[in-house]
Amino acid sequence: MNSGSESNLTKLVKLAESIADDPALIAEMAEEIQTNNKKILCRMIKQQFKNDLLKDLGPISEFLHCFFTQKKITEVNIYDSEKLGIKCFFMPKDTMFPLHDHPNQVICSGIIYGSVRYLTLNPHVNKNWYKYSKKGICKTGSVLFATKKYRNIHSIMALQDSIMIDIFIPNYMIGDDLGLFHVKRKRGRDFLLEKFVVKVKS
Ligand SMILES: [Fe+2]
Repeated sequence: MNSGSESNLTKLVKLAESIADDPALIAEMAEEIQTNNKKILCRMIKQQFKNDLLKDLGPISEFLHCFFTQKKITEVNIYDSEKLGIKCFFMPKDTMFPLHDHPNQVICSGIIYGSVRYLTLNPHVNKNWYKYSKKGICKTGSVLFATKKYRNIHSIMALQDSIMIDIFIPNYMIGDDLGLFHVKRKRGRDFLLEKFVVKVKS
């Protein structure tokens, strides 16, 4: 198959693969995210999310309503290798991922359908205190970027029936720590959080 006939989703996967295959590119992308200077790699990822990725979900796109009739999030694996994980989340309106973090070096969350409200936090100098980083609304075609150190703690709530594609570089490994957070106190833009660690099992 030549690149002209490739689906937009295939192009996104191939781009993510090429980054995940090269430690120098992973480091460069993390640097772009952490310095908020998303020049090259983040821009390329963003560009891919501007395409219509929904139609590339194939037959799934024809029975989307099935995912949105229940108030629960459905997760579909798109790509699952040691270096790269890509998951698709079908989020009915008002469902949410509460505050959590990821163990991966780079995390991209792109909305391909609907819209979500998000909040991101960064670690604070004081233990267990985290500071507000960014919040807003992410609409179809928009992407949120995070690294293990930057904007990693986040919550996402679907404002409408929504579909999000998450890219994890490198992929999760069995035994990795997933953090879930409970807000104990809020002081201005600072949050005192209690962290619960969950181990990745599969
Ligand atoms: Fe997340």
